[in-house]
Amino acid sequence: MSSFANKILELSAAFGLYDWWASRCLKQVYDTLVGLADLCGDEEILDVGCGTGMLSSRLAKVSDGISVHGVDISPRMITTAGRRTRGCHLNAEYTVGTATKLPCSDGQFDVVSSCVLFHLLRDSEKELALREIFRVLKPGGRYVCAEFEKYPAWFSCKRLLEYPNDLIGIVGFDVDAQFAGPSITRCHSVVYRALIKPGD
Ligand SMILES: C[S@@+](CC[C@H](N)C(=O)[O-])C[C@H]1O[C@@H](n2cnc3c(N)ncnc32)[C@H](O)[C@@H]1O
Repeated sequence: MSSFANKILELSAAFGLYDWWASRCLKQVYDTLVGLADLCGDEEILDVGCGTGMLSSRLAKVSDGISVHGVDISPRMITTAGRRTRGCHLNAEYTVGTATKLPCSDGQFDVVSSCVLFHLLRDSEKELALREIFRVLKPGGRYVCAEFEKYPAWFSCKRLLEYPNDLIGIVGFDVDAQFAGPSITRCHSVVYRALIKPGD
């Protein structure tokens, strides 16, 4: 990943700026992801690149029967996420780890989520991360994501930052839903996906 981008994110999280920005700009994104997850109320969910746990805690709030596991590469983010849920009686736990080698068992989760994570991964890491998400999902499990994709033509890093759309089928996912949402920044909009790991 870009360690520079990671440092900026960590700094902004340390001063509360990340949560301030996310609660304004990502609120609708989180709501859409919770809807896309199509939860019954007893799922085990993994939130990859969970950051300060904004999405993870929303997912956990859907029902007491839901348990959420957040993984992030940044220990500082994980500490902040843990602080958010402490005392809230939410069934959420957080672990430091990387999307390219998730600290989880094969077929452990009913649902996996990622929110604005993939643009921080190198090209080679994107494939590994997508394969890891596939691995940790149960057969029939659902992967929901909201990732930056539609970059304007003048944006020079466009290719580097895009979601690995071409790998979705190669990794083995079926596409249940895919649509572009409104722009959350001036530069790029967010594409939502619900991908299914085919059942046995
Ligand atoms: C833009 S933040 C989004 C956080 C959270 N998903 C949200 O929506 O609020 C991206 C997060 O991805 C994490 N991240 C970056 N590279 C990662 C990797 N290889 N594995 C796991 N997390 C990573 C960063 O530390 C950061 O917390």
